[in-house]
Amino acid sequence: MIIGFVQTKGGTGKSTLAVNIAFSNAVARAFDSIALVELDPQGTLRNWWEEREEMGYDCSRVSFHHISSTQKEVFQEGIKAIAQHNQLMIMDIPGEGTGKLHTRFACAFCDIAVIPMRQSTNDESAFLTNLYPIIKDIVLAVPEKRGRFHVLPVFTHPRTSIDKCYAYFNEVLPPYVTCLKAVYPARSVYENFNRKGLNLNEYAAVVATNRKFRQQVEKAVKDVETIANRLIRIGREKNASAKGK
Ligand SMILES: Nc1ncnc2c1ncn2[C@@H]1O[C@H](COP(=O)(O)OP(=O)(O)OP(=O)(O)O)[C@@H](O)[C@H]1O
Ligand SMILES: [Mg+2]
Repeated sequence: MIIGFVQTKGGTGKSTLAVNIAFSNAVARAFDSIALVELDPQGTLRNWWEEREEMGYDCSRVSFHHISSTQKEVFQEGIKAIAQHNQLMIMDIPGEGTGKLHTRFACAFCDIAVIPMRQSTNDESAFLTNLYPIIKDIVLAVPEKRGRFHVLPVFTHPRTSIDKCYAYFNEVLPPYVTCLKAVYPARSVYENFNRKGLNLNEYAAVVATNRKFRQQVEKAVKDVETIANRLIRIGREKNASAKGK
């Protein structure tokens, strides 16, 4: 299964989500081999991975790959090779203003394209202008690719109801794009943990004795596990319906 976090707009949580879904317990239970692939030439995750290695954190459960090439054929071949050797591949796609090479490829190649989006009219109209035309082109060219594009509402208020968010997005989203029945709430915990090579679960262990931090991180872990479970379920449903055809 191939999951890509895709959003042309920057700073919507793609890299943070990619990392923590890759290291989630739900994913560890469901897949034997997991690859985390960063296509961002900036190498945010590569730096983070190097910190992990330096700190001696576990680098065996998930394999990490940074593909910095912006040459289409080069990065496509690299990604396809990694996909062949892993039951699950999670791709972190850069926010792209121009060209959108990686975005186009990811939208066409992923089984599930997760589009992290804020509930804001600015972000919705940026999506319609920048990302949606790519999705529409793909679906019109290859109709089987319908049903792979899922918006994940991000940075929601921690008390936002998933059902209300789901209803809202499904009302405003254009054809071929649906909303995931999950949200990614804004949590202050993200300001601290990911600069030290840690993933969320490891950070939870580090702050286990601090009651305030522990409560915050436990909520964040729960958010990520819920999203991971939802994605795994969608993947399984897709597999089952593909086999049934
Ligand atoms: N749930 C969250 N609550 C609050 N802040 C968050 C959350 N998730 C991520 N962040 C913070 O938001 C910022 C952007 O996150 P991230 O780098 O994952 O976004 P991105 O979409 O990968 O950005 P880019 O497009 O630049 O690659 C980071 O500072 C990160 O720590
Ligand atoms: Mg990023």
